[in-house]
Amino acid sequence: MITVSAPGKLMIAGEHAAVYGYPAIVTAVSERMRVSAAFSEDGIDAVDAPQAANTSFVEAALKRTKAHLKLNKRGIRLRTASQFSQTIGFGSSSAVAVATVGAVHLLAGRTPVPETVFTLAYRAVLDVQKTGSGFDVAAATYGGTLLYEGKGKRIEPLPADAIPLVVGYSGVKADTVALVREVARKREAHPDTVERIFRAIGDIVGKMQSSIREGDWERVGVLMNFNQEYLRDLGVSTETLEAMIAGAKNAGAYGAKLSGAGGGDCMMALVPSDKRDAVCDAITKAGGRVLDVAVHSEGMRSESVSQEPE
Ligand code: PMV
Repeated sequence: MITVSAPGKLMIAGEHAAVYGYPAIVTAVSERMRVSAAFSEDGIDAVDAPQAANTSFVEAALKRTKAHLKLNKRGIRLRTASQFSQTIGFGSSSAVAVATVGAVHLLAGRTPVPETVFTLAYRAVLDVQKTGSGFDVAAATYGGTLLYEGKGKRIEPLPADAIPLVVGYSGVKADTVALVREVARKREAHPDTVERIFRAIGDIVGKMQSSIREGDWERVGVLMNFNQEYLRDLGVSTETLEAMIAGAKNAGAYGAKLSGAGGGDCMMALVPSDKRDAVCDAITKAGGRVLDVAVHSEGMRSESVSQEPE
């Protein structure tokens, strides 16, 4: 039995515009999905995903990888284990797709080359949800913090291991696909206005990546605030997220914004170390839950190889 894990992610900047090819910044988080793989005796594929609401991402990734590796005559058994709650919006779907592609490669005695893993897992995600920039697949594959552009044409690591983030969960599960569709509808109705917002978000991401390289967290925070204003203009923020963001800023954060599609899920604040406790208190008072999560985590990796099924 082979086990591979891949991390979830947080979007630091560029959400929604990324769907249209604009640049984004994403960081891998310490919560991981694990996938164990073994050949089955009966030649039939089987997916055992006790914590998952649906197994479609695992199945799509298995199908893509078997076709790529010409394993169609072999049956494969997969079992998934999640370290994080799917409702929080850390990208369990893309993490599980990446871990599946990696595990099936190792099972077949093939090296999972990151570029191939990214391509297969991204296609699998698109097979299921039809839309998505692929930034979450890149984070799960490569790990660390990435500048991501053009739906994967440019994927560059950024030196952000010391990024001082506090993450708060709003208590509401966001529906990413519905929010992406909602923004698409706005873009159709108001093409110039929405395209101008996307360009402005792209410009913020460009400035933010230089500030991250310089370790200028105060400036990164200010840029996060600008990014949040545009997300609000797109209509994807919520009252709770706004209260958490305002609370964090009032308590001394350099900046704060939502992370991901909006409509719920998480926000993040960039904080000077002496303001960390005050910012955490403010997020809690505003109705959020501070999550103990590390960022800039390792990408897809092999966890174990054993002869016996676990
Ligand atoms: O909701 P999340 O965390 O999966 O993030 C979605 C980010 C979007 O830009 C809205 C969609 C995408 O695929 O980039």
